[in-house]
Amino acid sequence: MSTDILKGKKGIIFGALNEMSIAWKVAQKAHEQGAQFVLTNAPIAMRMGEINKLAEETNSEIIPADATSVEDLENLITKAQEILGGKLDFILHSIGMSPNVRKKKHYTDINYEWYKTTLDVSATSLHKTLAIAKKQDAINDWGSVVALTYIAAQRIFPDYGDMADAKSLLESITRSFGYHYGVDKKVRINTISQSPTVTTAGSGVGGFDKFISYAEKMSPLGNASAEACADYCIAMFSDLTKYVTMQNLYHDGGFSATGVTNDIMDMM
Ligand SMILES: NC(=O)c1ccc[n+]([C@@H]2O[C@H](COP(=O)([O-])OP(=O)(O)OC[C@H]3O[C@@H](n4cnc5c(N)ncnc54)[C@H](O)[C@@H]3O)[C@@H](O)[C@H]2O)c1
Repeated sequence: MSTDILKGKKGIIFGALNEMSIAWKVAQKAHEQGAQFVLTNAPIAMRMGEINKLAEETNSEIIPADATSVEDLENLITKAQEILGGKLDFILHSIGMSPNVRKKKHYTDINYEWYKTTLDVSATSLHKTLAIAKKQDAINDWGSVVALTYIAAQRIFPDYGDMADAKSLLESITRSFGYHYGVDKKVRINTISQSPTVTTAGSGVGGFDKFISYAEKMSPLGNASAEACADYCIAMFSDLTKYVTMQNLYHDGGFSATGVTNDIMDMM
């Protein structure tokens, strides 16, 4: 249902790979709520071509950018403002990738070159995006930036590997940049810590099927879906959440505050 909550707002959405992607749902809902935006993803991810369907459906343009490349990000932020005809009001950072997790390297025996890639793609890319946006003064006052994260930044989930370190860094960048951008321009920056969700990135984590069932039983409301996560992102981009910044916001059906549930006890 549209209430035009984002009417007149302009943005950039990173990370829509296919229909399962959280960013895909955010794009659909942002369009439904009256926003205009540019879609972006790594050039290699675009070869699959699925993003074209989303661009057509949401009447948006696509600008390829490798989120680790300062040059690509500068081009993206400049061009997005040209296409949209003004400064941005929101950015979704929905990017994560670990070569160590993909290639099943144990956390205690990681490849350090790959580790750099994990951190660069999944966390430093947020810093680069914000730094370029700030230099270009590309975000309107009270603009909102949301990055997606996972509770492995706070607690150990063994199969999440070095992505846990990346998420900790992502959340720290959110706080630190949120301070500076808030003071200078009233731009707010938050992370949303989402339940395990069936997507390409999610399913890459070892034992994901069992884990998602465990999280379902450990969450009083059950696991939050990608659609529900998209709704929360829309709320965070809207003017109804103007004083929320530098926060890690749990969107997990209560998982993060639960010690144990009767469902889990019954299984023991
Ligand atoms: N799926 C889950 O269980 C879950 C839970 C909590 C948080 N998250 C986070 O949500 C975000 C979105 O993931 P998703 O689950 O929708 O999976 P997804 O695989 O659909 O999205 C990940 C995206 O990152 C993009 N990406 C990878 N390397 C890139 C690069 N160099 N430059 C630009 N883009 C690049 C991919 O192309 C893809 O679109 C990620 O940050 C992920 O860690 C996911």
